[in-house]
Amino acid sequence: MQKLKEEVGQTIASLISLEEEEVFLLLEVPPDPSLGDLAFPCYTLARELKKPPPAIAVELGEKLAGQRGNLWEKAVPTGPYLNFHIDPQAYNREIISQVWKEGEDYGKSNLGGGQNVPIDYSSPNIAKPFGVGHIRSTVIGHALYLIFRALGYNSIGINHLGDWGTQFGKLIVAFKHWGEESKLKEKPVDYLYQLYVQFHQEAEKDPSLDDEARSWFRKLEAGEEEAVAYWNRFRELSLETYESIYSMLGIQFEYYHGESHYNQMLERVIDLAREKGIARESEGALIVDLEAYDLPPVMLRKQDGATLYITRDLAAAIYRRERFNFAKSLYVVGAEQTLHFQQLFKVLELMGYKWANDCVHVPFGMIRFKEGRMSTRAGKIILLEEVLQKSIEMARDIIEEKNPDLEDKESAAEAVGIGAIRFGDLSNDRIKNVEFDWDKVLDFSGETAAYIQYAHARICSIIRKAEPGYLEWDEKAISSLTREEEVTLVKTLALLPEKVIASAESYKPSILARYLVDVAREFNRFYHNCPVLSSEAEIQHGRLLLIDATRQVIANGLGLLGIIAPEKM
Ligand code: ARG
Repeated sequence: MQKLKEEVGQTIASLISLEEEEVFLLLEVPPDPSLGDLAFPCYTLARELKKPPPAIAVELGEKLAGQRGNLWEKAVPTGPYLNFHIDPQAYNREIISQVWKEGEDYGKSNLGGGQNVPIDYSSPNIAKPFGVGHIRSTVIGHALYLIFRALGYNSIGINHLGDWGTQFGKLIVAFKHWGEESKLKEKPVDYLYQLYVQFHQEAEKDPSLDDEARSWFRKLEAGEEEAVAYWNRFRELSLETYESIYSMLGIQFEYYHGESHYNQMLERVIDLAREKGIARESEGALIVDLEAYDLPPVMLRKQDGATLYITRDLAAAIYRRERFNFAKSLYVVGAEQTLHFQQLFKVLELMGYKWANDCVHVPFGMIRFKEGRMSTRAGKIILLEEVLQKSIEMARDIIEEKNPDLEDKESAAEAVGIGAIRFGDLSNDRIKNVEFDWDKVLDFSGETAAYIQYAHARICSIIRKAEPGYLEWDEKAISSLTREEEVTLVKTLALLPEKVIASAESYKPSILARYLVDVAREFNRFYHNCPVLSSEAEIQHGRLLLIDATRQVIANGLGLLGIIAPEKM
């Protein structure tokens, strides 16, 4: 598509007073493919020349009558548009050879020129279960990580663990009173959460526990050995649990810089806010007024000297800037924290940091399972690990039924099961709430990972049956691809690079996810109507090259969503 756009842009620019760049930006894809493949709208020119747009379209059409380009064969005026039609043979050759040559790199580029993009994602809270609430941040954040990396940015995954705060005082007290070593070792996160809940129940009856907890947190803040040792153990054991989930998902973070990482930098943040004259004392607390910006005030320090979540986020933002000199700094965090990030970025701006503009909150909606909303508070928690296990199990049953002779059912079940969860999340516009329905996420014929993975596996199976020589490049074989289904499939494959870019620009992996459903659908339509192995040699060869390119596009695209495309399933 890019090449076609460039070519059409040049052609039109040579006829009119607009620069190639301007024309390029005006070009659109017509809503109805039968109208053409690329349209130049004549409105801008019409204003300049004071003529009606359709008249200009006709004039341009006349100038181009009988001409053709490398990739287009005719230009037809339709209303206010001049519509370009591709030359299918040239276009097929261009796109299929590009996929063929670039292979695993098809869809990638060097747009980012190696610039750093820290991505703050997943970020669970120590001693709270890694519930499904964090699954969205994990899955969306990881997809953005992969997508930005594919575009030549240096993605930096940061897990901003909730590893500091008064809850640690509570946990220490609870563990000292009621804790059992063996249980802590066995299932640290679950057990710490249990202790946390127990603490709240007991503290209702005995408020002195709260004082005790506060005093332990003070000891922790003062760096007293015993307190620090407890904190360290709780943190390390929780991390081990999280890491086992991340490894199931194939995720690695560059940094586990939790909230505690910024403890030494908080003084500096507070001094800076004072120096800039934006902070004021109010009843012993230190606050920044944001009334002028229609935002509630930000508290940097409480009356008792304790700092807050936002104080640590200010330090973290400055630290990231100084350390990584980022092009963009992303925060993949639920929409319920929108206000927090508005305040955070505003305070940074008031501190005089121009780069505050490059900080982006990437919000997302809630996730609900059909059984009801996930909430830690409601007492009913569904753990991500359990969700993944359940999905793998269901996938295993389906595969067992569909393909009982498959050799490695286990890895297929994992790819399909985990893919279902990831895709079930990623295929929705992130800002919407997701309704999770087990039957739907694993439906092999719905808009699911399995549907796409299945198309991929099917192609691999056809290719396995073909004779080896059939995957050699052959221009003549490509020229035999003239059927509508074939040309439409090629046009769909051509879109991968721009879909990857669009996903990054809007921070929406859903664009890529939906696109892959289109690829699988176009492949199925093609395959339904155009036999591959039973057609005559040249056509067979052309079709094999076409489906091999399709296989590559699906594998690359799913890969950017963190989903594996098995060769057999
Ligand atoms: N731990 C927080 C939570 O679970 C998310 C942290 C997001 N990142 C940040 N820099 N604030 O709500």
